[in-house]
Amino acid sequence: MSEMTKKSKRLWAYPVILLVAAVATAVVTALLLNIAERKAEERTPFVRLVEVGEDTTDPAKWGVNWPKQYNTYLLTAQHTQTRYGGHGGSEALPDEKIERDPWLKRMFLGYAFAIDYRDRRGHAYMLQDQEQTQRLTKPQSGSCLHCHASLMPLYRKLGNGDATAGFEKTYTMTYKETNQMLHDMGHAHPVSCVDCHDPETMAIRVTRPGLIQGIERLAAGEGEVPHLPSVERWREGSRDRPYDINRDASRTEMRSLVCAQCHVEYYCSSNFKLTFPWGHGMKVEQAEKFWNETTLTSGERFFDYKHQETQAPILKAQHPEFELWSQGIHARSGVACADCHMPYMRDGATKVSDHWVRSPLLNVNRACQVCHKFSEAEILDRVAKIQDTNHQLLQNAGKAIVDLIDTIIATRTKGASEEQLAPVLELQRKAQWRLDFVAAENSMGFHAPQETARILGEAVDLARQGQVAALSLQQTTPAVQ
Ligand code: HEC
Ligand code: HEC
Ligand code: HEC
Ligand code: HEC
Ligand code: HEC
Repeated sequence: MSEMTKKSKRLWAYPVILLVAAVATAVVTALLLNIAERKAEERTPFVRLVEVGEDTTDPAKWGVNWPKQYNTYLLTAQHTQTRYGGHGGSEALPDEKIERDPWLKRMFLGYAFAIDYRDRRGHAYMLQDQEQTQRLTKPQSGSCLHCHASLMPLYRKLGNGDATAGFEKTYTMTYKETNQMLHDMGHAHPVSCVDCHDPETMAIRVTRPGLIQGIERLAAGEGEVPHLPSVERWREGSRDRPYDINRDASRTEMRSLVCAQCHVEYYCSSNFKLTFPWGHGMKVEQAEKFWNETTLTSGERFFDYKHQETQAPILKAQHPEFELWSQGIHARSGVACADCHMPYMRDGATKVSDHWVRSPLLNVNRACQVCHKFSEAEILDRVAKIQDTNHQLLQNAGKAIVDLIDTIIATRTKGASEEQLAPVLELQRKAQWRLDFVAAENSMGFHAPQETARILGEAVDLARQGQVAALSLQQTTPAVQ
């Protein structure tokens, strides 16, 4: 066949291909709509007995309409404990993490976390535990409440109707005054229905400005997000408007994003507004890069505190569950936080999401066995293997940090100059940031085992590099001998 005939044959084929494609698209769309409709039917057979709106923060009111979800939500007040999850200690107060792992306390010296840092517990306690913590003996900002109360009406009031403007005011306010306002307005509840649900449609949605802005920054940045297809789609589009979580994210993504309103690394103090450090992505070194490029109002490079014994400018990590989940195989496979932490319960013909948010290990049958066809004992053992390995790596890294701190102190005592010590202090900052990123995460490595192992490997390496550098200062500096 000549080139010419080949070409004309191809031209002739275009309309046919287009027609076939159009028909196929129509069929698929119809099918999808049908499935979506049926899903909606299956999920929302509720009778609205009382009206709830944007200012209804009291979950009991919603409970009248949705008693099954409300009754399981109430169970978050129950004590739960697994080998690494839930909490030890009494009902009055969970155990201190800093007593269980003395290296934690050592690395936090100079910061409020060395005073009081306990096991987390159920959502029912979030406001009360924050109000009680001894960390409040240091001045804290109003930003703290973003993740510990049902405070959207407070933000709207502070911003004259504009929640984002109100949110951006709270960092300049004290915790005490913000908390008092919350109580005075009658919204002193832990995370409530209205924080995750649209009161009109009951669809899940995100309310917290910290996440709305954080994910906008993530989308605009270069960090890889294969587990968030809607962000990838937005990036490929015209970008004529910022990524909008409530408009762009899929329902599957929302089943994790509602949790990412709070279970993330953040900065929260009176220097600047509550910030999620995702401009370069969510991996540990990407967040580090973001913080390194951030300056405090004093003009200094960002740090959370100066280590009391070494003066290293330290970055403190906070519960990066969303970030580490993002690096794991479950996220990559489209398995959401809610799949494991709020699994479905059958209730006659309908499915109800278990609102008793807790360790899935207390619930392997509904949380894991829907996908993994192994016995409960086998599944628990697989998790234990991952967590024990992570725990061992954590202890090794903790030991390396303590050795580094000891060596820095000794090197300074022997006369090393601040200039000589500066690169060593930088290594402490880097090592500690990595160690803390895994230690502060609450799944003991489960959400992304290979990633946490990689991070802890780096933490040990950086700490030992610092130690070697300090020791060589002791040997080579005349002033030091
Ligand atoms: C594939 C299942 C799975 C997914 C998906 C998942 N988790 Fe987990 N999560 C676990 C397991 C297993 C543990 C360990 C529980 C334990 O040690 O008792 C855990 C632990 C936790 C803990 C500590 C629980 C406790 O009782 O102390 C928190 C908080 C948490 N996950 C939040 C999240 C968030 C937020 C997401 C989504 C960004 C998420 N998880 C996604 C399985 C999952
Ligand atoms: C408004 C902020 C906020 C949101 C939204 C949120 N959490 Fe939490 N979560 C917290 C806080 C704060 C605690 C710790 C409470 C305490 O220790 O008093 C916590 C505790 C937990 C625990 C530990 C429970 C236990 O019994 O030890 C798990 C598991 C958990 N959250 C998972 C999730 C998941 C999954 C989602 C999304 C479906 C989610 N959280 C949404 C703030 C939040
Ligand atoms: C971005 C959301 C967010 C912000 C802001 C936030 N927290 Fe939390 N907080 C959480 C989550 C999630 C947990 C549960 C996971 C954990 O304990 O690691 C938690 C747990 C706690 C706990 C119980 C465990 C512990 O650490 O002893 C206390 C107390 C607490 N926060 C106090 C504070 C204070 C004080 C501030 C302000 C400086 C603050 N929180 C700001 C999300 C947040
Ligand atoms: C931390 C976020 C969060 C909070 C707080 C929350 N929910 Fe949900 N809720 C979810 C998620 C996630 C789903 C699953 C939605 C989906 O897959 O579309 C859900 C589903 C539902 C559904 C749909 C049916 C079902 O069970 O799947 C109802 C109704 C509901 N919740 C009621 C409530 C009520 C009532 C409260 C307060 C007592 C509440 N929720 C608090 C996250 C939350
Ligand atoms: C919605 C489905 C789903 C649920 C629910 C689920 N998983 Fe998975 N899990 C997967 C998929 C998909 C993979 C990736 C491997 C594969 O494709 O088989 C995986 C992988 C794993 C792995 C191997 C991890 C690795 O790093 O290679 C473990 C362990 C695991 N799951 C445990 C659990 C546990 C424990 C739970 C419950 C807390 C759970 N899974 C819940 C779908 C699920």
